[in-house]
Amino acid sequence: MSDLEQIIKLVRDLAGVDEKKLLSFQAHGFRVMYLACKLGRRMGVYDADLRLAALLHDIGKIGVDSAILFKPGPLNHIEYLIIQAHSHIGNRIVRELLDRPRAAEFIRDHHERWDGRGYPRGLAGDAIPVQSQIISVCDAFDTMTVERRVYQAPPMRVADALNEIRQCAGKQFGPRVAREFVEMIRHSPLRSDDHEWYRGVEEYLPLLHRRGQPAEAVRKYLEDTAAAGDESGL
Ligand SMILES: [Fe+2]
Ligand SMILES: [Fe+2]
Repeated sequence: MSDLEQIIKLVRDLAGVDEKKLLSFQAHGFRVMYLACKLGRRMGVYDADLRLAALLHDIGKIGVDSAILFKPGPLNHIEYLIIQAHSHIGNRIVRELLDRPRAAEFIRDHHERWDGRGYPRGLAGDAIPVQSQIISVCDAFDTMTVERRVYQAPPMRVADALNEIRQCAGKQFGPRVAREFVEMIRHSPLRSDDHEWYRGVEEYLPLLHRRGQPAEAVRKYLEDTAAAGDESGL
């Protein structure tokens, strides 16, 4: 079994029979991976560990009960703590089941904040790996523009989400990473406000659902997002 097939199987096994959870995880993971690869390449830090970490950044949420994961209203203190554990669980899954400690570290730190008010360790500034900073900003953008529908909140316009990211630079996000992200979206065809940009990613998702499917199209997508010369695959 290739690395990619192993990962797809792992995600399916962990999600169990919860289709909503699986779909939400995969759609969000693929979009964040797509954005993080583009941004990573732009900033000269793209590699297979960044790609894997971006795809699986929320893998730890797959063990969280759907009632908490998709709760439409605000989370209470305990629910928030349970959700927060996904950074740690994702770290363990990718470190121990996939044996990719560097990618696991990027996942562990994807909810750290530049101002030190994030979790799990409260790292600040450049103590946060730049790859985690990249995943963080791409994650926030996707959550604001697309993923909010999962929680029955209307998605934000791309322009408004970019404004929010600009305002959070130096607080939630690394200033350089936030600036590069905003520039990247501004100068790329992704900026359409009707979310055309992620359809290319989502057309591959049904293939992940078919058991026994060799996921050729998914493999092709991953290859398309890989940098020239990067032969390590996922
Ligand atoms: Fe997360
Ligand atoms: Fe996420």
